[in-house]
Amino acid sequence: MTDIQGKTGRKKILLGITGGVAAYKAAELVRRLGDRGIEVHVVMTEAACGFITPATLQALSGHPVYTDMWDGRIANGMPHIELSRDKDAIVVAPATADFIAKCVHGLADDLLSTLCLARDCPLIVAPAMNRQMWEHPATQRNVAQLRRDGVTVLGPDSGDQACGETGMGRMLEAVELAEAVSAFLEPKILKGRRVLMTAGPTFEPIDAVRGITNRSSGKMGYAIARAAIAAGAEVTLVSGPVSLAAPVGAVVLPVQTANEMFEAVKKHVAKADIFIGVAAVADYRSAAPRRHKIKKTEEEQLRIDLVPNPDILGWVASRPKPPFCVGFAAESRNLDAYADDKRRRKKVKLMIANLAQDAIGADDNEVSLLDDRGTHRLPRAPKDLVAQQIVSHISGLLGRNTRKPG
Ligand code: CTP
Repeated sequence: MTDIQGKTGRKKILLGITGGVAAYKAAELVRRLGDRGIEVHVVMTEAACGFITPATLQALSGHPVYTDMWDGRIANGMPHIELSRDKDAIVVAPATADFIAKCVHGLADDLLSTLCLARDCPLIVAPAMNRQMWEHPATQRNVAQLRRDGVTVLGPDSGDQACGETGMGRMLEAVELAEAVSAFLEPKILKGRRVLMTAGPTFEPIDAVRGITNRSSGKMGYAIARAAIAAGAEVTLVSGPVSLAAPVGAVVLPVQTANEMFEAVKKHVAKADIFIGVAAVADYRSAAPRRHKIKKTEEEQLRIDLVPNPDILGWVASRPKPPFCVGFAAESRNLDAYADDKRRRKKVKLMIANLAQDAIGADDNEVSLLDDRGTHRLPRAPKDLVAQQIVSHISGLLGRNTRKPG
């Protein structure tokens, strides 16, 4: 097997599509992989072409689609070898019961099965089939053997099926597959590192029903958690109230207030190698939150006294032996100057600056990374891609700055 860390600068995969109704999800998968900077080349079986056309996949991937062993477009006439040689992995999604059985037995009677047999890169399959087919002892034996052969099996999921039945066998959704494939291809640059993070807003109660919060969605923090996990880190994520799925593999500690966030951080900080404060922590909270709902009165003004919240990042960074600290600065103007000032004041190794009005709630972000060496601007990109770059930058700085895990 070759190194999965990329034979070229950009990660490239061969996406094999076999003949199941879930083939329609492969079109979306091409887009979602593209969002993550992965170049996708498609090979389809004859049966797959009965569900979705090569033209669709060609348009979405931007590359010719191959279906035939005898395709004359490959100069040496050997598409079954050539098409996988510059790829970081072959991903078969959907993988039917028949295709899995063929792989287990080393059958090679069409382009995709021959490519899989002749490959020198990892193989990932995403099964999709009717629940009875999935539960059949033959399929279960085959999947177990595939795993023993070193093939990565992603899914399936359970739920409603196209055939009208309900159970195990649905292919994972495109976005989940794209994330898993991207994580698989990621070099494990944070292997053995323990990352403690905060993300999302805080909610500071005023009375039984009202509170002070902000518009942070948690998307950037959750993307960093996913990227750190993909890079091999153990992640503990202290999260304010958000409506996002927990990153698979993270220990998530849900909190509401800044004080709860602070307590959770204090409890876990001793074990952390890296602390990343992404949360938009409320600077102030009500001095005396009311137990019951405040009623309207005839008064002209209602006063709520506010007291400052603890500075969680500042506290972590000023510990005698702090973890490697990373902060976020969301500013509405004078971005670099304010962010650099914050970096020095809070004594953090890396400050990530973004314009609050651009970043909050959005799916993409444009950030600058400020460290001892200066300012590095990253181009605007989806938050997952930005997160990967941030993780890679942290790993680079860690190499120079901190203790290695024991
Ligand atoms: N932070 C924190 N605890 C706080 C406030 C902020 O841990 N009580 C962290 C954030 O998670 C982020 C960084 O500190 O990583 C940014 O802090 P910010 O609140 O923007 O900085 P302030 O010093 O409060 O400056 P400002 O005047 O802009 O509010």
